[in-house]
Amino acid sequence: MGFKTKGTIEMNILILQGSPRANGNTAWMAEEYRKAAEAAGHKVTLVNVAHKKIAGCMACEYCHGKGNGACVQKDDMQEIYPLLAEAEGLVLAAPIYYFTLSAQIQAPIQRIYCMNKPGKLKKMALLMSSYSPDVYDGAIGEYRGICDYWGTEDTGIVTAKIDEQKTETIRDRIIELVKKM
Ligand SMILES: Cc1cc2nc3c(=O)[nH]c(=O)nc-3n(C[C@H](O)[C@H](O)[C@H](O)COP(=O)(O)O)c2cc1C
Repeated sequence: MGFKTKGTIEMNILILQGSPRANGNTAWMAEEYRKAAEAAGHKVTLVNVAHKKIAGCMACEYCHGKGNGACVQKDDMQEIYPLLAEAEGLVLAAPIYYFTLSAQIQAPIQRIYCMNKPGKLKKMALLMSSYSPDVYDGAIGEYRGICDYWGTEDTGIVTAKIDEQKTETIRDRIIELVKKM
């Protein structure tokens, strides 16, 4: 972490965006987070993991044996690992599919298994979109479980159901969320 002149702490933030819709609501939320975080002086990398080839974990345990922390699967996750290793802040952004986070973001989350925990990670945030209200409990349970497991601070969650998508209200909530990173 570096220190800015105004006294705020600059963080290296990685946003993993898990919607296949390039102009969808999750992409918009992730982009708003990126803009606000950069304006606050953070270094931000935004990756659309839904447009990558990332398979699920094979549970082969190569990483915890001969692999010494490296995953045996040589797919696009290999370009995400160095970003995760340097990330001090991690933002997960995903649509709700069947009451949980989209499969496109579940695969990269579960592939972090080989790292145990991203080494420099201190803080996390969650952005989600859905059609309906009250569909977030499963995803929030997973997210909070991961924060606890890694010992990372949960800076908060912003959700947008259909009538809230791409609104000033959600933009303002995202700006407030960035302040906690
Ligand atoms: C396969 C699939 C499953 C979905 N399941 C749910 C759901 O369980 N609850 C819900 O409210 N919306 C559900 N939706 C709607 C999306 O969550 C919603 O359209 C969201 O805004 C999409 O985000 P995006 O614009 O970033 O792609 C589903 C959509 C798809 C394609």
